[in-house]
Amino acid sequence: MDQFDAGVNCINRQLMNYQQVSQPSITVSYFSACLQKSTMATVNDNYLKLKAGYLFPEIARRVNAFAQANPDAKIIRLGIGDVTEPLPEACRTAMIKAVEDMGDRSSFKGYGPEQGYAWLREKIAAQDFQARGAAVDADEIFISDGSKCDTGNILEIFGKNNTIAVTDPVYPVYVDTNVMAGNTGDANEKGEYAGLVYLPVTAENNFTAEIPAQKVDLIYLCFPNNPTGATATKEHLQEWVNYAKANGSIIFFDAAYEAFITDPTIPHSIYEIEGARDCAIEFRSFSKNAGFTGTRCALTVVPKTLTAKAADGSNVELWKLWNRRQSTKFNGVSYIVQRGAEAVYSPEGQAQTKALVSFYLENAKIIREQLTNAGLSVYGGVNAPYVWVKTPNGLSSWEFFDKLLQTVNVVGTPGSGFGAAGEGYFRISAFNSRENVEEAMKRITEKFKV
Ligand code: MLT
Repeated sequence: MDQFDAGVNCINRQLMNYQQVSQPSITVSYFSACLQKSTMATVNDNYLKLKAGYLFPEIARRVNAFAQANPDAKIIRLGIGDVTEPLPEACRTAMIKAVEDMGDRSSFKGYGPEQGYAWLREKIAAQDFQARGAAVDADEIFISDGSKCDTGNILEIFGKNNTIAVTDPVYPVYVDTNVMAGNTGDANEKGEYAGLVYLPVTAENNFTAEIPAQKVDLIYLCFPNNPTGATATKEHLQEWVNYAKANGSIIFFDAAYEAFITDPTIPHSIYEIEGARDCAIEFRSFSKNAGFTGTRCALTVVPKTLTAKAADGSNVELWKLWNRRQSTKFNGVSYIVQRGAEAVYSPEGQAQTKALVSFYLENAKIIREQLTNAGLSVYGGVNAPYVWVKTPNGLSSWEFFDKLLQTVNVVGTPGSGFGAAGEGYFRISAFNSRENVEEAMKRITEKFKV
């Protein structure tokens, strides 16, 4: 007997009892209980609106299929922005010492503070923010295991009726997590979701996220930008902050790549901009500056001055909601990893992370120069680890992806995977060994001289 039959039998039994029952409301509730039994558990239908797979696993799937069919191919992966160089020695030493702490009852640690240990948050506040004139206090910093999770989870503390703006192309997590949360309608054939406001960033507007003509409530900005490698000047960010303050909007500022800024005039934090404490949340990560993609440590700043409206019209402090959310759903990052992150702020850690960032930036320079010499139009890669390339000969992003994979066995990321306006572009990541970057550029430029 399947669930449907079971439900029908149950209703029949209730119908037979119906004659004797004099209270119709009780009978109705019996029937509805039976009907519920006859159906299965339901899913979050918003997930069904998502495109087949998240971009990077989809690329990995295609590359693995190619590798299986061509076992001798020496594939070079410049797709996902995953680091390749070892952890800085200062971080490793600190983590080894932290493991030893865990082996001694007097220094052993159980649950840590959900917000992160004060000794790490104080160093971040002092060195990443206050040293740059950005007024961020240690207790406005929440340590987490990743900016990807935080940029998605932050939506939980916002209402359902917000108008949301993203740049196009954009880091796909911002879009997909809004789809999952039910903040969008369906996607059109270009992959654009109904209900989102897309701000195209292309060569024509110099990859600038232009201020929208309409009012939006939540805005995602990422600088240095993933995927285009573009940066935002102080003046441009000031325009965004002025817009947000005038419209009661909140900016989600993803600064995961701030360590790659080489131009001293470019701000590293949104809080270097006047008024940003009243309209912005900032996300940062140890993944790219200190090689923590596999170690996991990041941070989110929610200023205590930041508010948004409740349904009854009152102002609510977002810090309180995020603190409540983290205390309930998150147990913090491990003591060992936080000690490793803390070491980034020691003099040795600073020198070693600088060297790591410089190494990847030198890779980016090699990619830019070689592709430019081959006649390709190339953007980014100066203050960012990503180089954004116009595909040659009018190839679509995925056509160029397939061609590169099949002819020279090099993997990049199709620009269209970051949004409709990324069509006709291709992202090359500088996160790899020097040897692999040089070899990949040799192979590409020999094959694709324009
Ligand atoms: C990327 O390749 O865009 C990054 O690896 C994304 C991420 O850090 O999650």
